[in-house]
Amino acid sequence: MKYLITGGAGLLGSNLSKKLLQQGHKVTILDNFSTGCKENIAPLLECYPKWCLNVVGSVTDGYIVNQLVKSCDTVIHFASVVGVYNVTNNSVKAIESNVIGDQNVLTAASMYNKGIIIASTSEIFGRSTDEIAKETNDVHIGNPYNSRWSYAAVKAINEWLVMGYHKEQNLPVMIFRFFNVAGPNQSMKSGLVLPMMIKNALQGTPIEIFGNGRQVRCFMHVDDATNIMWSLLDGLQRHSDHAGEIFNIGNPHNEIAIADLAGLVIELIGSKSEIIFRKYEDAYPTGFQELNRRVPDMTKTMAACRLHDVYEGFEGELAQNIGAIISDMTTQIRSRVRIGVTE
Ligand SMILES: NC(=O)c1ccc[n+]([C@@H]2O[C@H](COP(=O)([O-])OP(=O)(O)OC[C@H]3O[C@@H](n4cnc5c(N)ncnc54)[C@H](O)[C@@H]3O)[C@@H](O)[C@H]2O)c1
Repeated sequence: MKYLITGGAGLLGSNLSKKLLQQGHKVTILDNFSTGCKENIAPLLECYPKWCLNVVGSVTDGYIVNQLVKSCDTVIHFASVVGVYNVTNNSVKAIESNVIGDQNVLTAASMYNKGIIIASTSEIFGRSTDEIAKETNDVHIGNPYNSRWSYAAVKAINEWLVMGYHKEQNLPVMIFRFFNVAGPNQSMKSGLVLPMMIKNALQGTPIEIFGNGRQVRCFMHVDDATNIMWSLLDGLQRHSDHAGEIFNIGNPHNEIAIADLAGLVIELIGSKSEIIFRKYEDAYPTGFQELNRRVPDMTKTMAACRLHDVYEGFEGELAQNIGAIISDMTTQIRSRVRIGVTE
């Protein structure tokens, strides 16, 4: 199979590219390196020179997207301005780029009738008070005066657009809704919690926490996410019943309060960093609204994955705990600092 992975130089894209190449597929990566980086894909280009191709460009360029979609079998659309912080503080650029990029990719996929997978986020549940998120839960996004919700709103409209293409044009689509996937190749440019904590802990500089730190999140190792994505992709080829479906991808077992996460990072790295609590207003526009708890219901995904062919038992499937995520990320950040990679 020939896959086009937009955003393939990022966390999820580079790890999935590696898995697909290992399985004998061809992969073309379209990325503008805004948060992803060349170092994430350099080993793939070196190992698979005939099977892995890198195109530097943007999904907002309709011509490039059209040509690349035309020559692949399946599109995996991960390119996006990522994270609440980036989108909240650069709303116009982020919203326009995400909307135009999504539209370009979907229009081309529809024109050439290609299977397409798009990335969505647990953020779309917005202010919902449901703590356990099933794929069918309602979304409760806040109002447009608060730019904090723009990331959720763009991702949600993208989900509806994808569903529209499936219902009206029978386009084979899947939506992967990610819940805090982390691990090697995660960017430090997006202001995401774990890379920032690890970087500060390694430098011995203070770890900043917004709010009281009791907000809880579940973290999934990117290796687990990759195995799940690969299995769902394989399923899309073999079982057309996966088409038109949304799948949560997260680890409900790895639940931790943000202040405890900072403590764990400090302990595992053996750092002297102190933890500082800050108001949301110090980094976000006034009126920032935080969510206390967000846990993925993985029942549907695990049933669809049939990962028991590969692993033993549910616990074993999501094998990597938070300590393993921190340790793997720390090893990579240390080695990249040593060879002078600056993100
Ligand atoms: N990691 C998670 O837990 C998580 C959670 C929710 C949603 N997601 C979604 O999954 C997708 C991948 O996220 P990730 O965690 O790998 O983030 P990432 O930042 O590591 O990857 C995104 C990639 O897209 C590229 N990119 C951004 N804008 C682009 C453009 N206009 N044209 C081409 N490339 C562009 C970046 O350079 C980067 O390589 C995103 O759509 C994101 O919204 C991820």
